[in-house]
Amino acid sequence: MRVLFATSEAHPLMKTGGLGDVSGSLPSALRAQGADVRLIMPAYADTLTRLPAWHPLSELHVEPFGPCRLLETILPGSDVPVLLVEHPLFSSRPGNPYNTADGHAWPDNAERFTLFCRACELIALDRAGIGWKPDIVHANDWQSGLLLALLQLHAPSHARLITIHNLAYQGVFDRATFERLGLPWTLWQPHGVEHWGEMNFLKAGINGARFITTVSPSYAREIQTPPFGNGLDGLLRHRQADVVGILNGIDPREWDPAHDPALPRNYDAEHLEAKRENKRILQAELELAQDDDALLIGVIGRMTEQKGLDLVLQAADDVLAMPVQLAVLGSGDKALEWSFTELAARHPGRVSVRLGYNEGLAHRIEAGSDVFLMPSRFEPCGLNQMYSLRYGTLPIVHGVGGLNDTVVDITPETLADGTANGIVMRYLDAPAIIWAVGQALHHFRDKARWHALQRTGMRCDFSWEKSAGQYLELYRRMLAERGAED
Ligand code: ADP
Ligand code: GLC
Repeated sequence: MRVLFATSEAHPLMKTGGLGDVSGSLPSALRAQGADVRLIMPAYADTLTRLPAWHPLSELHVEPFGPCRLLETILPGSDVPVLLVEHPLFSSRPGNPYNTADGHAWPDNAERFTLFCRACELIALDRAGIGWKPDIVHANDWQSGLLLALLQLHAPSHARLITIHNLAYQGVFDRATFERLGLPWTLWQPHGVEHWGEMNFLKAGINGARFITTVSPSYAREIQTPPFGNGLDGLLRHRQADVVGILNGIDPREWDPAHDPALPRNYDAEHLEAKRENKRILQAELELAQDDDALLIGVIGRMTEQKGLDLVLQAADDVLAMPVQLAVLGSGDKALEWSFTELAARHPGRVSVRLGYNEGLAHRIEAGSDVFLMPSRFEPCGLNQMYSLRYGTLPIVHGVGGLNDTVVDITPETLADGTANGIVMRYLDAPAIIWAVGQALHHFRDKARWHALQRTGMRCDFSWEKSAGQYLELYRRMLAERGAED
């Protein structure tokens, strides 16, 4: 079974969020179960500097973008072959793959990801001179969505699947852009790329896919409703028999408190005293007061509407009236960045805010915090709550999407049967956050109960094995259907 896994980021070659984590670990889990998976992504400037080695594989000519090179390498720390599409649209631009330094989308993103999809198309059709033709093409999010619509125009076609990691980003451009891209006109229709007079890359992917997976069972249901559907809920309801929720796993090589090289002290469920040392060292690193009894609340993430951080700001004064500390790491919306910086200035020693992207600090916050706050308005899966559980850090979450599927709220019943592992807000607003932090503090003071909650979380199994098996099951179904058609 040959699988071309197309993605716009994969850790450690490029990562802006969870898609990078998933693309950096799922392909290797699929290979472990016997699939010949090759990952394809753009050769960004930063990717090329991060790579220890690569070699040129072939030259492609992609209309109307001219020549580009196909490079080959291995995903560091794995056995996953990686194909990189090298063109100045990617390789001459350091930094974030989607946005300028001031947070605006690159003005030529439609061109950039059309070029990427067209290069993937040539490879899928075995016209790239590499002598490898996939049976299955697995696209991820809007950046590779167009690929599936393009492949649908060829016969015999591949088995095609798209994973939606976040329906809020669809790759929407105007008709004039579509005209400039030199794409086949047959795509300009509602069964292709057109959506209410605009070009929509994600819709193209959904239309071109036999199965549409998303990254948790709850989100698979939610996106079929108007509040979470971002204008595509009608299409997704129409395709409901093909929409499947598969919960993400986490990479145990990257996220394991017993072996994590980013941590000052490694620990496991039997040695939680070393977690307390991580807390003290983190307090020192972040210039927070050395206080074992303060409940240290970690927050990490993209500062966007999705993550509900504006509500944390609204709740901050009441939350900080309790014996707590706040450690925030993130970047994004400038107004949020500014407000958090201002909050830290008003509460020296109690609130620490680090703007920017810092992988090592993200690991140390996961390990050193007592609780991890994730008040997302929506969350397709969410990885940080799973990392938190693994690191013995109690998650406080809003009960949506993958947060709902991974965190078990503390109730008398779940305490009695030993399944409780976090706090789930059923309703999201500032008072809910204040209430939830108060609850966490109440449980934190009962050390025996707290340790039991930590151990339950640390025992949860979020390995990729099961989820990779579910993807393979869909791959096999698609191949069987194709066999039956031939
Ligand atoms: P999303 O993909 O919506 O951003 P996830 O919870 O799925 O949310 O994944 C986010 C990933 O990105 C996690 O691995 C998290 O640690 C990481 N991350 C987000 N912001 C930062 C940051 N500022 N510095 C380091 N890592 C970050
Ligand atoms: C997206 C979602 C996040 C998910 C990640 C990986 O960025 O926002 O919830 O965990 O993709 O699938």
